[in-house]
Amino acid sequence: MFKNQQITKDIFYVGVNDRQKHKFENMLPLPNGVSYNSYLIMDEKTALIDTVDISFGDIFIDKIQSQLQGKPLDYLIINHMEPDHSGSIRLIRKYFPKMKIVGNSKTLSMVQGFYGLDDNTLEIKDGEILKLGNHKLEFIFTPMVHWPETIMTFDQTEKILFSGDAFGTFGTLDGAIVDADMNIDRYWDEMVRYYANIVGKYGSPVQKALQKLKSVDFQVICSTHGPVWKENISEVVDVYDQLSRYQGKEGVVIVYGSMYGNTELMAETVAQGLSEGGIKNIVVHNVSKTDSSYIIRDIFKYRGLIVGSPTYCNELYPEIDSLLRKIEIRGVKNRVFGCFGSFTWASAAVKRLTTFVETMKWETAEISVDEKQGLKKDNYQACLELGRQVATMMKNHVDDPAHCV
Ligand code: FEO
Repeated sequence: MFKNQQITKDIFYVGVNDRQKHKFENMLPLPNGVSYNSYLIMDEKTALIDTVDISFGDIFIDKIQSQLQGKPLDYLIINHMEPDHSGSIRLIRKYFPKMKIVGNSKTLSMVQGFYGLDDNTLEIKDGEILKLGNHKLEFIFTPMVHWPETIMTFDQTEKILFSGDAFGTFGTLDGAIVDADMNIDRYWDEMVRYYANIVGKYGSPVQKALQKLKSVDFQVICSTHGPVWKENISEVVDVYDQLSRYQGKEGVVIVYGSMYGNTELMAETVAQGLSEGGIKNIVVHNVSKTDSSYIIRDIFKYRGLIVGSPTYCNELYPEIDSLLRKIEIRGVKNRVFGCFGSFTWASAAVKRLTTFVETMKWETAEISVDEKQGLKKDNYQACLELGRQVATMMKNHVDDPAHCV
């Protein structure tokens, strides 16, 4: 029944849209949904690249069978084992029991571990080639982009890179599959949010993968999430290059927690100081209102970060504490930092923020503002000055190459 969309004469899109799930990995909001992309190569031998989340298993099988028209499915090539892509392996095997499952040793071990399958498999090595007939598939190992088993598959014949999670975005595919056939504006921020939250910890492995891809002449990127990239390849690769080097653009994120508005007023004042210092990209987030995935996205996007927190139970405000842990885990580098806070009877938050930035080894403003109870004239001026000082530091900041990856 299905008329699958063609990427090229022999390659068909058989992926699905997920407009049902509220949170990816049960953590990251999906206001625009997400696609799980899978591709079928029709040649003398047929090969499926990755599967989809098992919630969509039935429709996925229908799409594959519509294309095969009774031909056997010879190979399932697994670029990545996370269950949003591997979830339908056991189902596919039931429909195509003779199909060979293709992956590296780590992949095949995970196939056994997750799905209990260890027969009819083909272990491949880095650089090995699998011939389907006209199509020659080269396997490129790219560990930790985003799991240890991750590989990319390069179709040498049609110069198509099946890249796994790399270069993917949140957001469903609404009709068209290829970037040239759609308005791609809505995907850029979602690509950054996807990268920052999911792959963000692995800047160094992503850099190694990008170096490896320099010798691969790909002209199309088929990722596992979001559009197929044909017209915007250099832009997409640049996004990954900058993010994985932790190179932020000129701009500052102010993130604060506030129970009764005192720390919030400090945040507003610091923002004004930044603006007076000439910073145009200023993003202010209330940590209790904005989901942290969007805050992390903006921290990857911009070079400056100023954090404000009230003291709570002699510690940081819990939501700020949680956010800092997420930043630490991702090893964000090369940032310009400032902090402020408020307290009622004993100050702790600003000390904690200072300890945090020492761990991160970021360039830090000399001024920090710590207000007892309501904001008063001296500290109002100090908040303005903090903003101005961070603005000046931003203008003078040079990324330390030693801290880039
Ligand atoms: Fe889309 Fe790492 O899974």
